[in-house]
Amino acid sequence: MDIFNEWPITTTLLLSIFSILVYNILRSNMPSKAKLPPSPPKLPILGNLHQLLGKPRHEALWQLSKQYGPIMQIHIGSKHFLIISSPAMAKQIMKTQDHIFCSRTYLKASEQLTYNFKDIAFSPHSAHWREMRKILVSEFLGPKRAKLSKRVLVTETESMIRALSLHPPNTEVNLSSMLFEIVKQMVCKVAFGTNYRQQPLKGPSLDAMIDEANELLNGSIGDSFPYIGFLIDQFSGWNRRLDDGFRNLDAYIDTIINDHLKDNLEEISEEDKDFVHTLLDMSKENASGYRLTNADLKALVMDVLTGGIDSTVLTLTWLMSEIMKNPRVMQKLQSEIRNCARGIQSVQDMNTTKMTYLKMVVKESLRLHTPAPYLIPHVSLSHTQVSGYDVFPSTIVLINAWGIARDPSVWGENAAEFYPERFENHDGDIGWDRFDMLPFGGGRRSCPAKNTAPANVEFVIANLLYWFDWGPPSGMKSEDLNMENKGIPVLKRKVPLRLVPTKHN
Ligand code: HEM
Ligand SMILES: *[C@@H]1O[C@H](CO)[C@@H](O)[C@H](O)[C@H]1NC(C)=O
Ligand SMILES: *[C@@H]1O[C@H](CO)[C@@H](O)[C@H](O)[C@H]1NC(C)=O
Ligand SMILES: *[C@@H]1O[C@H](CO)[C@@H](O)[C@H](O)[C@H]1NC(C)=O
Ligand SMILES: *[C@@H]1O[C@H](CO)[C@@H](O)[C@H](O)[C@H]1NC(C)=O
Repeated sequence: MDIFNEWPITTTLLLSIFSILVYNILRSNMPSKAKLPPSPPKLPILGNLHQLLGKPRHEALWQLSKQYGPIMQIHIGSKHFLIISSPAMAKQIMKTQDHIFCSRTYLKASEQLTYNFKDIAFSPHSAHWREMRKILVSEFLGPKRAKLSKRVLVTETESMIRALSLHPPNTEVNLSSMLFEIVKQMVCKVAFGTNYRQQPLKGPSLDAMIDEANELLNGSIGDSFPYIGFLIDQFSGWNRRLDDGFRNLDAYIDTIINDHLKDNLEEISEEDKDFVHTLLDMSKENASGYRLTNADLKALVMDVLTGGIDSTVLTLTWLMSEIMKNPRVMQKLQSEIRNCARGIQSVQDMNTTKMTYLKMVVKESLRLHTPAPYLIPHVSLSHTQVSGYDVFPSTIVLINAWGIARDPSVWGENAAEFYPERFENHDGDIGWDRFDMLPFGGGRRSCPAKNTAPANVEFVIANLLYWFDWGPPSGMKSEDLNMENKGIPVLKRKVPLRLVPTKHN
């Protein structure tokens, strides 16, 4: 039963009455001398919601910021947002005042899916968050796991290249699904080792579960409109969807952990241990009395599944789309790769260290296709001032990474063009400590994989372009390739990428 669709008028009326109440309460609590950031006119209760409808949210916000400036305030229901739309303001938030803007907001879905905020990505700023982040960096992403990660990367890339060479000539492959598959295998084999199960014992497929989790983490009506929103979530079936989504993933993770518990940890060498083995080791009390709880362990696995796969797949898929659409770049890139790797015998010999143009192409792709258009929202811990305006505690900050990275006033006339050469003048800087593009966010909440993820992307792309030439589907010109996206929370391609590989000898 979908009350929201069946009685839109009743719902709107209720929302309005409720908003007027909240609005008046909020107004009476507002300190009178505060200097607030500019804000578009709002309706009672609904706030600025009506100005955001009909367009993807990051685009609507970008348009409003053209009118109200790079620091702007909006309301949706009971929530206050600070909207940031320039590199200078982004730097204020994620560098100068990083210690204040380093928390996360409450969402019903993030609470449940992270075992009550035991994870990294959604947990508020705390000692627990710091500990979990340290564990992910040293035990999943760090040098300790580098050998296993490289082995898995090579094996999975090899099997993709093999599958491609067996593919009938002059026919399309579904590159979207192929790239999803390879990244999922990579992440899961490093995390779960030989105990990786392609599919859960029952319920929806692993792919469907990951998709569903990401959609749930987009938030619900109840997150913005307390009380009435809760009822809407209840009657629209959203609460049930969240329960089911969580239960399915939780059961899958339980199965994986139980399989690991059957392994004899003492018999496995440090080098062969996977991420879950190590986490189980850490679940035993150590000398200083610290131990990882079961919920901590599961929350970490959940973060790896929801944070590690989609973002990397998206990056690979958009990169292949862009170079397909830009034959000049494809040609230049391919000749760099074939020169540097001349004569290699297997996937494993591919070394991207000296492929400078490839690194620029990856960067340009991450600029135009920032996977998370306004990052994972940062939240303020205390009262502060930004650019002379008061910002109150618990303000949700949306940093419009999508808009900043495409802004002609930041990137020049050709901002919309895919032009990797623009990075030639950046002193070979391939770090991410800049605020004119933010594919990995910034500050202490930035993506912990920002130093390792690009190298994996480079390796896969270098192999795809070394062993094969690529063409558009038959009957289509490469400039006609559809580049639309599906909209937030992450900007996936609207239609799967299908290309024709031809073996190169
Ligand atoms: C190309 C690949 C990737 C991209 C573009 C990407 C992008 C991002 C972005 C934009 C954020 C939010 C940063 C912020 O709020 O300021 C983030 C956070 C995060 N990412 Fe990634 N990510 C990628 C790969 C990965 C991988 C492989 C993992 C791990 C398995 C990962 C784990 C995380 C975690 C745990 C956070 C939360 C950090 C925190 O809140 O402290 N990401 N990522
Ligand atoms: C291609 O793969 C995607 C992702 O797995 C899938 O959703 C889609 O149905 C596939 N499309 C075609 C035409 O095979
Ligand atoms: C996520 O939320 C935004 C705005 O709140 C909405 O426009 C979008 O359609 C949602 N995406 C999904 C997949 O539910
Ligand atoms: C126990 O584990 C915690 C968390 O990993 C760590 O910070 C601490 O240093 C460890 N103590 C000892 C004595 O190993
Ligand atoms: C890749 O090449 C660089 C120098 O060109 C070298 O230092 C590095 O060890 C090589 N990496 C591998 C894995 O062979």
